[in-house]
This record gives sequence, C-alpha cells and structure tokens, in this order.
Amino acid sequence: MMKAKISLLKEKIEQLTVANAEELEQARIKYLSKKGEITALFEEFKSVPNADKRLVGQLLNELKDIAQTKIHSLRKSFTVTRGVDTDFDLTRTAEPIPVGTRHPVSQVQNEIIEIFSRIGFVIAEGPEIEDDWNVFGALNFPPEHPARDMQDTFFIEKNPDVLLRTHTSSVQTRVMTTQKPPIRVLCPGRVYRNEAISYRAHCFFHQIEGLYIDRNVSFADLKQVLLYFAKEMFGGETQIRLRPSYFPFTEPSAEMDISCNLCGGQGCQFCKHTGWVEILGCGMVDPDVLRNCGIDPEIYSGFAFGLGIERITNLKFQVKDLRMFSENDLRFLEQFVSV
Ligand code: PHE
Repeated sequence: MMKAKISLLKEKIEQLTVANAEELEQARIKYLSKKGEITALFEEFKSVPNADKRLVGQLLNELKDIAQTKIHSLRKSFTVTRGVDTDFDLTRTAEPIPVGTRHPVSQVQNEIIEIFSRIGFVIAEGPEIEDDWNVFGALNFPPEHPARDMQDTFFIEKNPDVLLRTHTSSVQTRVMTTQKPPIRVLCPGRVYRNEAISYRAHCFFHQIEGLYIDRNVSFADLKQVLLYFAKEMFGGETQIRLRPSYFPFTEPSAEMDISCNLCGGQGCQFCKHTGWVEILGCGMVDPDVLRNCGIDPEIYSGFAFGLGIERITNLKFQVKDLRMFSENDLRFLEQFVSV
C-alpha cells in the first residue's frame, strides 16, 4: 500500500513542470511543507509493520531527496544569474558608450585658428583677471573712457584696479611689451562685460584678436589678410566691406562686413535686408600704443583685428539664442557633431 503510494508520487514529482516561481512555490507546499503529501507519508510510516519498515523507510527518504532536488533545480531556472558561470555571450557587441561632441564655440575657434595659422599666426594667451594697464591704459583708453565704467567692466578690486578683461587686446599688450617684432599672434579667449543677459547679449563671450607688427605693414596687408580669412571661413564667393569706425587703440579703424552668407547678398531677415553682416573690428595699431609698449613706431607699424567667436558661430549655425552656448543642454550640444 505505502510502496504503491510512494512510487506514484515519485512519478508525479519527476514529471513535474511549473510555469513560474509562484507555481513552483505551490508545488513545494503541496509535497514538502508540514502539511505536504510527503510529510503525510512520513506520518503514515509510523503504522507500517516492523518487517517492512526498512525498505519503506528507504523508499520514503529517496522520494524526499528526489522532491527536494527537483524543486531546487526548478528554482534555479527562475533565478536570473549574472556572471561568467552562466550563458555569457562573449560575441555580443558592447553597450554603446555615448561619445561627446566638441562645443560649437570651440569648433569655430579651432577653425579660425587653423585658417590663420596657415599664414603664420601663432597663438598667444593671457590671464582673464587683469590690471587696468593691460586692458585699457596701454591701449589709449583715456581715464574717463566709458568702457572703463562700472557698467561695462567687472571690477574685482579698485585702486589699483583688478578686473576681468573686456577684450583679449590685453594679451596683445602683453605680447608687445615682452616680444620684439616681427610679431604675428592670435589671441583667443573668454572675455567679460557687465551686460544684461538676453538672447543677443551675455556677460561673457569669446574673442579672437589678431596682431601683426613688422616693418612696412600697411592697411592693404590688413585688408588682404581679412579677405583671405572671410573666403576661407565662409566660402570663396564671400565679399568683404570695410566701414570707417573708431577704436582707441587703432588709427585708422574700421569695421568689416561680409556679404550675407544666408542670402548671398540679396537681402534677408538675417542681414536685415542689407546684404551685409558685421563680423569684426580692425585697424592700424595706433603709434601711441606701440610707444606705450616699447616698440618704436618710426620703425614698425602693425594692424590688429578682433572678432567675437559666438557671432561667427551664429553665422555658421544660425543659433537664435546666445544663451544656448552656456547652458550645457545636451539636446542642443549633441547637434554639433565634431570631426
Ligand atoms: N578689442 C576690440 C573689441 O573688443 C576689437 C578690436 C580688436 C578692434 C583689434 C580693432 C582692433 O571690441
């Protein structure tokens, strides 16, 4: 009687299949729990005649073993295991690692540097925290000049003045006072102005300024270098236009426009229907500035130019809001795939 029950149960357990962990737990309860069928058989075993006890006991223990092993192996198949001892597919491709892109302002800055380095300009850098002399004094800004005013300049200390540079011309002062001509430098860097932040103005932005000092440098050299730059940067058909302007440190001074690269000079919303967009300021270095920096203006002459990198970046990519450049929004930055 017992033997028949045991072999029936054994068969059932061996054929046991479950669909999920819950069913498995039910099976465990059904056979192995305190009120389970196997436990019940152990109860019943007490009334087995002594002569049969040995054999039936053996069969019963065997059945319990089988049940436990079965439950255990089924449980294993429901547990997610990690590590090299499981089915680890070494041929699978790796998780893609997102690769960053270079910031659009850096991309344009590098492109400008590359264009000028082809005609012999080298990079010069200087500190963002400066004194009055390097930013204004040496560059002919009279003491009452509005650019020195609290509204434009971020001062860190007064008397003697320590301030955040408002243009990278301060690097040119440093180069002129420490190097002898011929000088051919490009000064890229961040500059600060105390402006209300809006879609078209920010309290910091980036500039590249150029300085060329040698014997017999003329305005014609300046114009030719700028035309070369405009064509390299915006395409061979680009035209330039120089308009008289004023800067304290250059004489004569000019502002340069390029033919609008969006409408090709026909006139559009971007160029305010003029066909031209302003991109930089330039001029011949004022003899007084050369003298201030220890260079003899009777022997040497030079030109300088300065442009805002964000402005050029806007011309290239038509970014509507300048603030996007400093907000670190990946949705914006990821669009500028760098090479
Ligand atoms: N430093 C000027 C500015 O910040 C730009 C400039 C540089 C103009 C060199 C002329 C020559 O606006």
